[in-house]
This record gives sequence, C-alpha cells and structure tokens, in this order.
Amino acid sequence: ISPSIPPRQLKSRSIESVAHYILNRPVSKVVVLTGAGISTSAGIPDFRSPETGLYANLSRLNLPYAEAVFDIAYFRQNPEPFYTLAAELYPGKFRPTLAHSFIRLLADKGLLLKLFTQNIDCLEREAGVPGDLIVEAHGSFAEQSCIECKLFYDKDEIRKHVAAKTIPRCPSCDGLVKPEIVFFGEQLPAAFFANRMLPVEADLVIVMGTSLTVQPFASLPQLAREDAVRVLINKEVVGGLGSRADDVVVLEDCDEGVRQLAKALGWLNDLEALWAET
Ligand code: APR
Repeated sequence: ISPSIPPRQLKSRSIESVAHYILNRPVSKVVVLTGAGISTSAGIPDFRSPETGLYANLSRLNLPYAEAVFDIAYFRQNPEPFYTLAAELYPGKFRPTLAHSFIRLLADKGLLLKLFTQNIDCLEREAGVPGDLIVEAHGSFAEQSCIECKLFYDKDEIRKHVAAKTIPRCPSCDGLVKPEIVFFGEQLPAAFFANRMLPVEADLVIVMGTSLTVQPFASLPQLAREDAVRVLINKEVVGGLGSRADDVVVLEDCDEGVRQLAKALGWLNDLEALWAET
C-alpha cells in the first residue's frame, strides 16, 4: 500500500476509494456535517422530504406557512404550535442511528476534528460523541430560557409543561420560555461562528442527511480545501457536492452508506458494537 494517497489519485470515486484514502493518506482530521436525514431511521421525521417530512405534515397546526412553527416572530404571537410539536420531538424516546455511531467511531479513533449538526435531537451526544467535538449549529432541546430576559428555565419544569401541553412562562418577567433551538430570525450560537472555519483544516469532509438549504450552515462544505476530499452520503445530490474532481457522492440511506464505509475500512464490528450499546 503506497505511503500516501493524494486525493487526485482516488481511482474510482467510490466508498472503497474513500476507505483507501482514509487509511493511506492517512486522514487525521475529519469534519462531519449532518442534518435531519441521519435521524429519520430513529423515527424523527426530516423537514423537507415530500410526504414524510415535517413541513408536509403540519397542517393540523393551522400555520400560515410550515416554517412558522420555528419562526421567532410567530412564536411570540402563538407558541401553541411549537409546543404541540415539541411534545412529539422532545429527546428521550429516540435511539441514535448507525450514522450517529459512525461519528462516535471516528471520534474514538481520534479522527473527528468537529461535528457540525443542524439537528436538535441531541442524538449525537446520546451516541457518545464527545461534547467538545459537537457544534449544534441550530441549538438543541438541551437548555431553555426566557425569550425576553434570557433567564434560564428549569429542565424538569419545561418537561412538565411539554407533557401537559401547557406553555411555560418566565417566573421573573412572565415572558415566553423556549428551548435553545435556533428559530428563523434568531442568531446561531456563538460556538458556530467560533468553529465555522474548521472545514478549511479538514482532509476529509463528510456531509450526511441534509438538503443544505439553510444558511449559513449550507456554506460549510465549500470551505473544504481543494486538496481535501468531500463525501456526500444522502438520498439526493445537494449543495454542489459532486462538482469537484475528488468529491465522492454516495446516493444511499445514511445508515447503509456508513455501514458500507465501515465495512470497507474494516471497522464494521467496531461500528455495530458501538451501536449495540446505544
Ligand atoms: N438517508 C439519507 N438521506 C436522507 C435520509 C436517509 N435516511 N432521510 C432524509 N434524507 C435526506 C433528504 O433527501 C434531504 O436531502 O436528508 C435531507 C434532509 O433535508 P431537510 O429535511 O431539509 O433537513 P435539514 O437539511 O436538516 O434541514 C436544515 O432546516 O428547518 C430548518 O432548522 C431546520 O436544521 C433544519 C434545517
């Protein structure tokens, strides 16, 4: 096996060529970029898939338009639709997927430079990805606070309200309480901006389960250097992936794609053992 494989020599742009590149470059800094598609097999709908996506199934909430459920101006007027949805999506009843365990495996092997996720389900943490390696670009349900005075709100209290389908209000200023999910119209967390240039340092960028339709997250893949390799594992081609000579596009279900890559890497037993623990 040659000592190092510059990406230009990736023979067939396939899973096997990616595995060969990882093991022989050798790759040491992987940045992973994920969206809702890596949690659909856990039972959490994505947003934009026709029929099954969340935005196609919110008619019961009588929203002016689907994304209003995550719009801060709409939430101020009418928090009910979000809290109805929160009862269905609240973490604690979903199991991480094989794709989440693959990211944990990259971390265990010391290869994960950073995971940027758009998901709010906290499944990356539950899969055992170290917290300092995760950037929850659109926040998560992990914390909650008053949207007016920013006072933090108690975790057990909000869980009671979500279960009872009542609306939590700030004990200090009576403002609406909201989980720290980034709504349309809100700023992304400081951690996103502090880490957003990391894809430049990567020698491999893996994009999984996202339509890459929401900025600024969608701009991350193009930050990868020309001499790095970008791999898309997704049901559809998105975000210009495939436009570069060394891009590898894997039109597969995320779990199937990571299973094939782990197999080609000789890591399938490790991956399945990790997933079995979740
Ligand atoms: N395997 C592979 N790809 C999948 C799978 C799967 N099991 N399930 C869905 N996909 C693909 C879809 O084809 C689509 O390209 O994942 C992508 C999901 O796209 P979206 O539903 O738009 O989800 P996401 O990209 O995470 O949305 C981004 O939009 O509403 C906002 O803040 C919200 O974070 C969210 C952001």
